[in-house]
Order: sequence, then C-alpha cells, then structure tokens
Amino acid sequence: MSFEAFDNIRVIKVKDKREGGEKAFEIVKEAHESGAVVFGLATGSTPETLYREIRKSDLDFSDKTAINLDEYVGLSPKHPQSYHVFMDEHLFSVKPFKVSFIPNGMEDEEIEIARYNQVIREHPIDLQILGIGTNAHIGFNEPGTSFDTHTHKVKLTQETVDANKRYFESETDVPGYAYSMGIQSILSAKKILLMAYGENKAEAIEQTLRGPVTEDVPSSILQTHPDVVIIIDEAAASRV
Ligand code: GLP
Repeated sequence: MSFEAFDNIRVIKVKDKREGGEKAFEIVKEAHESGAVVFGLATGSTPETLYREIRKSDLDFSDKTAINLDEYVGLSPKHPQSYHVFMDEHLFSVKPFKVSFIPNGMEDEEIEIARYNQVIREHPIDLQILGIGTNAHIGFNEPGTSFDTHTHKVKLTQETVDANKRYFESETDVPGYAYSMGIQSILSAKKILLMAYGENKAEAIEQTLRGPVTEDVPSSILQTHPDVVIIIDEAAASRV
C-alpha cells in the first residue's frame, strides 16, 4: 500500500479489491467514530468489498442515515437489478440504518426529483462513497453533465449501458434512464471516498487526477473538493 497526494486528493494505492475494501472500511470507521451521521452510498461491483467489511464488523448504523446516489428509472424497488435490492443484499439486511433513502425509479420525475433534493438538503452528507464509470461518471452523472446539477433524470450513455448489461439478461433489459444525485449534491458532502479497481478504470482515474477540470470528465470536479480520498488498485493506477 502506498500514499500519494495529488493537490487536495489523497490517493491510496492497494494491491487489489480486497485490500481496497479493508482500507475503505478504515475510512468509514474513522468517520463513524468521529460522529458522521449521514452516509452517501454507492452501488456497482466496486463497493462490494467495502460492504463486506462493514457487514463483518461490529459497527452499528442503527442511528445513522443512508442516502444512495442513484436508481434506474422504471425498475420497481423489488426488481432484482434495482439498486434497492442491491443495497438490501449487500448491506441493509445485515446492517440496517435508522433510515435509508434511494430514489424511487417508479415515481414521476418531477415529484421524485423534488423529494430527493429535499432529502439531501435535510440530511447533509458527512461521507460520500463513490465508484466511477469507465467514462468517468460519478453516480450516473454522464460526461457533459453540468457541474451545477442537483438530482436529475439522466439518459444513460451507450458506454454505461454496455458496462452495466452484465447484470441483466440482455442489453434491451437495461433501463435507458436513471435518477441520480447531481454533481452539486455529491460535492456538498463533507468528505468523499472514491474507489476504482481494474484496468478498465485506468483512463478515468488518470483524467480524474491529472486532467483538466471539465464537464466532459465528471469525476475531474473532485479536484475542487477540499477532502477527497481515492483508493485504487494497481491496474486502475497503471496510468498515473
Ligand atoms: C454504475 C453506478 C455508479 C458506479 C458505476 C461503476 O453506473 N451508477 O455509481 O460507480 O456503475 O460500476 P462498477 O463498480 O460495477 O464498475
């Protein structure tokens, strides 16, 4: 494991996803111990090892709040590929939070966006967990998304549909839209922890750390946040 500082971003390089989960868990534990109340949570394969560490731990989240980043539009909370089911399976069934919020993919756009923005306003996020898309999206904020966005409805890019179709029976089953916290909602978190593993994230990580801050690379905005930690394995670190 090694540490490097890229301006305000602290980069922790780990051997693999397992070690990444352990390191990420330490950061979650530190936040928990120093009084964090609201945890912003992510889905995807990346946070799986972190959630495994949390499940194994004796940390208690029963007085904490969880706010998830995003959900597919059109999937009910009971759909096996919904992020509701993902969170139940990977975390909440073992570590229940006092309250957990996830966008409702079946709700009308205007109502859901207003509701979720209010949730985020009323529960300022202490620690935001992030994965990253191969195209450098964070949450479902695809390249080109304005840095000013709050919760919004997103049309998924072909690259994201391709990356996520492994979870569905066929590509045509992948929803075309999602509700996502916006870039501003993510930046409002006090601390941000992003994890990335694998060769297919190497370019996105290079652009996040070394590239210009541009809406074409949503994760590049993290360079402007005062407290960001990025955990990457050797493959994801191969270009930095
Ligand atoms: C999805 C999620 C993101 C996640 C990304 C990467 O698009 N909305 O929050 O970071 O996938 O997924 P994975 O961790 O499986 O590579």
